[in-house]
Parts: sequence; C-alpha cells; structure tokens
Amino acid sequence: MTDTAIIIVAAGRGTRAGGEPKQWRMLGGQSVLARTVAAFRGAGRIIVVLHPDDMTRGIAELAGQVTLVAGGDTRSESVRNALEIIDPNEYSFVLIHDGARPLVSPTVIGRIRDALESSPAAAPALAVTDALWTGAEAKVSGLQPRDGLFRAQTPQGFHFPAILDAHRAHPGGAADDVEVALAAGLDVAIVEGEEENIKLTWPGDFARAERILGTDMDIRTGNGYDVHAFTEGDHVMLCGVRVPHTKALLGHSDADVGMHALTDAIYGALAEGDIGRHFPPSDPQWKGAASHIFLSHATELARKKGYGISNADITLVCECPKIGPHAVEMASEIARITGVRPDRISVKATTSERLGFTGREEGIAAIATVTLVKP
Ligand code: CTP
Ligand code: MG
Repeated sequence: MTDTAIIIVAAGRGTRAGGEPKQWRMLGGQSVLARTVAAFRGAGRIIVVLHPDDMTRGIAELAGQVTLVAGGDTRSESVRNALEIIDPNEYSFVLIHDGARPLVSPTVIGRIRDALESSPAAAPALAVTDALWTGAEAKVSGLQPRDGLFRAQTPQGFHFPAILDAHRAHPGGAADDVEVALAAGLDVAIVEGEEENIKLTWPGDFARAERILGTDMDIRTGNGYDVHAFTEGDHVMLCGVRVPHTKALLGHSDADVGMHALTDAIYGALAEGDIGRHFPPSDPQWKGAASHIFLSHATELARKKGYGISNADITLVCECPKIGPHAVEMASEIARITGVRPDRISVKATTSERLGFTGREEGIAAIATVTLVKP
C-alpha cells in the first residue's frame, strides 16, 4: 500500500515498566520494536519515532527498513514530529501505532486500512465486558454502566493531511490520536481490536506477551557434518558406543564422529557456531575428552534458550565396521545423554559403494539433522 504511511511511536522511556526502555527489551528473541516494525512490513512506508538518545541504536537495528525521526516530550509531540515529515502529495492515509504494541496482527492492521476507505478515521477497540465500579480508598464507591464503553488500541488510522491539521490545532497532551481527531471534529469509526494487541506498560506485561507469543511455536532445524580419519587401534567410539574394529579414529577428543555431527547440528540450529567454538582444539583440556561432554553442553545451551530436542537423525558413512548391530544401542546412548525419548533418535548407516575416502576405508563421515522446538 504505497499510499499509506505508518508512524510507530517509540520515543517514550517506559518508566512504568522499569529497566531498559521497553521498546528495546527482548521478546521471543527479538526486540519489542523490531517485532512491531516487522508487523507492519508491506503495509506502507514506516516512520519510527525514537528518543534522541536512542538514534544510534535505532540506526543499528532498523536502518534501511524505516525512516527515523526524533520524538518529543509527550506522545502527541512525537506523533506530530513524524506527521510533519510526511509528503501530502505522496500519502493519503496514515496509521499511527504504539511501538509498545508488538503483537498487533495483520488482521487488525487490514481492518483499519479498509475502514479508511469509507471513514476519515478509524481505530481498533474492544467493548468492555467486565463490570465497572468506581472506587476510593480501596472500597467500591459506586457502579459505572459499561454500555457503550470501549478499550482503545492502536493502530489508529486517519486521512492525511486531516490528522496533521488536527495535531497542529491541538493544544497538546492528548492520550492518543483519536482524542486529537475528535477535537478537530473528525468522525472516528470503531473497528474490532484484538485481546492479544496489548500495550506493554507494566513489568508483568512482558511475561504475558511471551505467553501469547508462545502459541506461535518456534521450530529450528540444524545440520552437522564431521569426518575423522582412521589410525591404528582396536576400536572406534561411535554415538557413545565402543565398537571393536581393526582401526581407531584419529582426533583430538575421542573422535566420536557421529556425536560430533549431532552436536554441531544442535549448535547450528541455535546459530551458535560449532564444537570448535565452544571447545577449542587448541585447548589441551579437551584432548581425549569424551564427546558426551560436547553433546551435553549443546543440549544444555538449547534448554537454556528454551528449546527441547524434538528429534535427531544421524547417518554414519563407512564400509566398516558394520553399524547395524549397534544402531539401537547408539540411539539409546544418544537418548540418554540428551534426555530425549529413544524413539525420537535415529542412528543409521550407509556405505559409499567403495567410492571416495570412506569407500577406501580411510575414515568415517557422519551427517546429522536435528529439530529443536520452543513450545
Ligand atoms: N511515546 C513516544 N514519545 C513520548 C512518550 C511516549 O513516542 N514522549 C510512545 C512510547 O514509546 C510508546 C507509546 O508512545 O510506544 C505509548 O506510550 P506509553 O505506553 O506511555 O510508553 P512510555 O511513555 O514509554 O511509558 P511510561 O509512560 O510508562 O513512561
Ligand atoms: Mg507514557
């Protein structure tokens, strides 16, 4: 919608929420503001209003995606600063949204935009359903009929430049832009808002937002690949199982190629590099280390980030030793280390038809795929 400008106000300090200004706090792996901006992608030209102190950070996180404008001391001043830079020849409509409402849905945005085809202004709201009282000194002092009462949300949409004129004429201090529009005599249509479209205001609102987001499960897939060369010896360690063989695998640790591939797959799914990053081969303390240390570390890192292993599939590539007789034991060993049910772990093998280094029995290769789920 190239005729629509979107103003996201995020110049407040979030004093009620406390701590770091709320628009920069992380929510489900993304800053609140990045999430809000992403919700409007494709809906028009986005202008983000930031506190002057936050400009450097805004440029780092959002440059190229949005136009940045410095905000004022009040929300309405911040809105006005953005309205003033919009070219009336280019944009017919403007949607004004709180940066602190990252859970706004495309449905609500679409409803507002549609309503502007037939109304000079439109805003999402929810009818009040709870009984309302007045109160004083922790006692109910009276009843307040709830008929015709609504809880206002954003984005609030307006014809441009009517809302610019309304802001220029307003004395300031409005709670939202509907208040400014009403003062200028504009009709404001009420469209259905959404319960999930909360404004992060108090400390507890972040946990609530995380819970709402939790319904969108986060699923990640990672792959890992590893190779170890044969050397002299009488056994190999594969997926935690000691398999007798006429050779051994050469490596800094116990050279468990299958477990290394799986560990790298987990790090990969987390975008956390690989084993070498967490356990540098240059560090002598990992010499001869049992590979379950690496796998446990990766599993624990996933857990700390809120992910569980949904399933893993490991393929060992070798002519010898034969894997089939040990595959069930290998899967149960991986299951034990990761704490995943054995029927979610697969260990299988293939030869490479005597082709290449594995075919010439110079070493063993392994590939692994893992799926991590954050419920
Ligand atoms: N806002 C703004 N400029 C201001 C004040 C507020 O752009 N001078 C923005 C906030 O960043 C927020 C939205 O307006 O996205 C709604 O305001 P509110 O929830 O009150 O946020 P804060 O003012 O940051 O929070 P608090 O009032 O608790 O300090
Ligand atoms: Mg405020």
